[in-house]
Amino acid sequence: MDRRKFLKSTAVLAGASMATSAISAKAQAMMDKDSDAYWQTIIDQYKVTGEFINLNAGHWGIMSEPVRKAFAEHTEFINMYSSHYVGHGRSADPTARNYNVERLEIIDMLAKKLGVRSDELIFTRGATESMQLLISGYNKINKGDTVLYADAAYYSMAAEMRHLEHFRGANVVQLTMPDPVDFQGSIDLFEQAIKSNPNTKLILLTHMANRTGVIIPVKEITAMARGYGVDVIVDMAHSWGQMDYDFVDQGVDFVGFNLHKWIGAPLGTGLMYIKKRRMLDIDPKSSKGAPGNDDINTRTQTGTMNLAAVMAVRDALHFVDDIGIKHIDKRFRALRHEWTKEFIDDDRVDILSPEDPRMHCGLTSFRINAHKDPRALGRQLLNDYKINTAPIPEYNGIRVAPGLYSSKADMRALAVAIKDIASKIA
Ligand SMILES: Cc1ncc(COP(=O)(O)O)c(C=O)c1O
Repeated sequence: MDRRKFLKSTAVLAGASMATSAISAKAQAMMDKDSDAYWQTIIDQYKVTGEFINLNAGHWGIMSEPVRKAFAEHTEFINMYSSHYVGHGRSADPTARNYNVERLEIIDMLAKKLGVRSDELIFTRGATESMQLLISGYNKINKGDTVLYADAAYYSMAAEMRHLEHFRGANVVQLTMPDPVDFQGSIDLFEQAIKSNPNTKLILLTHMANRTGVIIPVKEITAMARGYGVDVIVDMAHSWGQMDYDFVDQGVDFVGFNLHKWIGAPLGTGLMYIKKRRMLDIDPKSSKGAPGNDDINTRTQTGTMNLAAVMAVRDALHFVDDIGIKHIDKRFRALRHEWTKEFIDDDRVDILSPEDPRMHCGLTSFRINAHKDPRALGRQLLNDYKINTAPIPEYNGIRVAPGLYSSKADMRALAVAIKDIASKIA
């Protein structure tokens, strides 16, 4: 086959995999998307180990088979075409595939999904990178200004906030999230802190806390903070893709996401959002552009990325959008309910995210009060019950994060294991 024909046929192949649906359109139209029968058709599209039940989708999400296969095809394509795909291949042959064209198409898809402008989004390699760029790049802090974050923040974002003391001369204040926390309590926490620190400039918010699954009211806290002239940077690593909310309605200006947790794209894919009119408040990276430009492409400096992984974001979006976030959100709540309902009246076990539906979704932690070693408890769940979770020493707890591949039977197995362990201690 001549080179040009091959190039085109590869594009068709990749295009076919991009269009892969979660299930056939006909079957989809006939099924109730909140039924266990429908969800079995989704579970069937994941290849997971049979050695244990994986309830640690919070670390990263497993790719569905259509996405994994598309990623493999993209990897093969990149390996064959190499820099021709990013370089002058297209200028020599206008029909050639080109990374920048395809990258921008995927950014357009993401912008549409979020309801924002395409020039407000840029790919990164994960939420950590996005958040660190935002926190370290935020240039409105003067010496002595206060910056706030709660202990619910992910450790590397908290560390980045603490660095502001050295880099910007900020007064860094860490707040303690009440335990248990309620909706108004989480707003009051930040408002009281702003009142106690009138020179507050910036707050870091974690939409869904990774250690407990607690969701805080980002919209209300952001509006409150704005009333005091305080900016907010938001970590949405666990919320976008897991729960159903209107991003634009949150009224936020600076946000870090990843795509490899709840969107189900390959590892090493993330996203950064900066509202266009706030672009100048985040410094460009030194080698990318002079201060004063408002091009989001100058706000990262990732070097060469895993292009096949970025290309597979399109496939991941097709997969989750075919299901629909409304149904994904409902499914995760149903999976959470399937095991937490067993402990509502059980004093031996605490569920660490509130029952208030505004404050939880699928990811939720628990503690067995009499068990004082969460790492040993995690090992016990894995060794004796074949259930993989994440120990959370800070809360003497265990994090339970089901994925789209999880079944209600998995969650019941967890409940049985917790009861068994609790009864052996008592
Ligand atoms: C709240 C939160 N933010 C950020 C991250 C980091 O995400 P990434 O792996 O995309 O860097 C995590 C990872 O678990 C997280 O839980």
